[in-house]
Amino acid sequence: MANILIVGSGGRESALEWKLNEEGHTVWTAPGNGGSTNRMGIKESDFTAIGDFSEQKAIDLVVVGPEAPLAAGITDRLRSKGIRVFGPTKEAAQLEASKVFAYELMEKAGIPTPSSAVFSSITDAADYLRRSWKEGEKEYVIKADGLAQGKGVFVPDTLEEALDDLVTMHEKLPTASERFLISRRVYGPEVSVLAFVDGKDYVLLPASQDHKRIGRRASGLVPYGRGDVGKNTGGMGAYAPTPLFYHESEVANGIIGPVIERMNARKTPYGGILYLGLMITDEGPQVLEFNVRFGDPEIQAVLPLLDSSLYEAMERTVEGKLSGYHLRTKPKHAVNVVLASGGYPDKYTKGYPISGLEEAEFMPDVFVFHAGTERNDEGLEFYTAGGRVLSVTGLGVTLESAQKRAYEAVEKIRFQDWYYRVDIAETGIEHLDLLDSMPKPSGFPKVLP
Ligand code: GLY
Repeated sequence: MANILIVGSGGRESALEWKLNEEGHTVWTAPGNGGSTNRMGIKESDFTAIGDFSEQKAIDLVVVGPEAPLAAGITDRLRSKGIRVFGPTKEAAQLEASKVFAYELMEKAGIPTPSSAVFSSITDAADYLRRSWKEGEKEYVIKADGLAQGKGVFVPDTLEEALDDLVTMHEKLPTASERFLISRRVYGPEVSVLAFVDGKDYVLLPASQDHKRIGRRASGLVPYGRGDVGKNTGGMGAYAPTPLFYHESEVANGIIGPVIERMNARKTPYGGILYLGLMITDEGPQVLEFNVRFGDPEIQAVLPLLDSSLYEAMERTVEGKLSGYHLRTKPKHAVNVVLASGGYPDKYTKGYPISGLEEAEFMPDVFVFHAGTERNDEGLEFYTAGGRVLSVTGLGVTLESAQKRAYEAVEKIRFQDWYYRVDIAETGIEHLDLLDSMPKPSGFPKVLP
């Protein structure tokens, strides 16, 4: 059994910790959250302390959850000390850390993505929008180049909104928007596809669908918001597998294969999780973004479906041994609902006691993952400590039963001003007829020539 250190503190890291503990490994977290067991008081940005701790504890694998340490080069730093790391190098992490880098790579590789123009001046961009905007059409999306914690994409409906968004982006994200893209707006459902990539080969996890909007209507707070309205969040819930995705071979041959080839051609091979943020348009899947880590909350829905060893998949990824490997998944559905602090993604209050956790945790087919939580010194009581507080997954033999289970568990939990969306997985349930046409959500290895 292995000694593993997980870097990060969210629901994603809690799900990774749960799965690796289930497999019998010893798991440490830096910094972890209120639900983590072996918490090290080490920040995810403190690469020196993470390296020292990994050496002292003879850590077999450091698993990096969030994008920021990857973009800042944690993998390179730790590997230079001989420590094994699951996650791409700083150069390879450019796929997420720079939208311009990702766009230029996709252009060269012929990967389907909305056509875009690169800008570094808001005056030039404003001129471009004034010249090109057609009255009554909603044609453009503005994307800051750098990491922006989900706040770097603007989807204006009018020219006036677009011009305002340019100014807002420049004011709020001065560094991330030194360069930016204006991309054509495309339409369709969004899905998240995660693949283990070892520099040559890859294996897909079941595709999922995130629900990014807070779900509050412009007219004010709807207690349990319904529908894709309101501000963008880190993700308010996800379900897997999604019947909206049945494009495995297009994605394998038209997107992941070319990414691997191009990254190898520039001598920055890609290893780790490659997250494809796709829009399923009438012309097929288009890449909206790449991420270089597991999705949160997507992985909280996907991991409870995974029968195979997560550690083995990560170890094979790090060692370049994915060729011929398949992942086994349960023939079930998973629905994950995020419980947030009222006010998130803007201002919210922390420190409210959380009740009902044990009742929810002991329900069969329910997984409660901590995110923005803390516990008191005795470790018996939990408090809210972040925007996304908990994420709760229900499993079921149908998508409807998984959804029912998740919400039954959610209803056991309480904290002041809590908020969640009541419609997670409804888009999937509306399209269940598509499930018959889905290829089986198992591994999809491909050896490149
Ligand atoms: N759920 C969106 C993300 O992880 O980026």
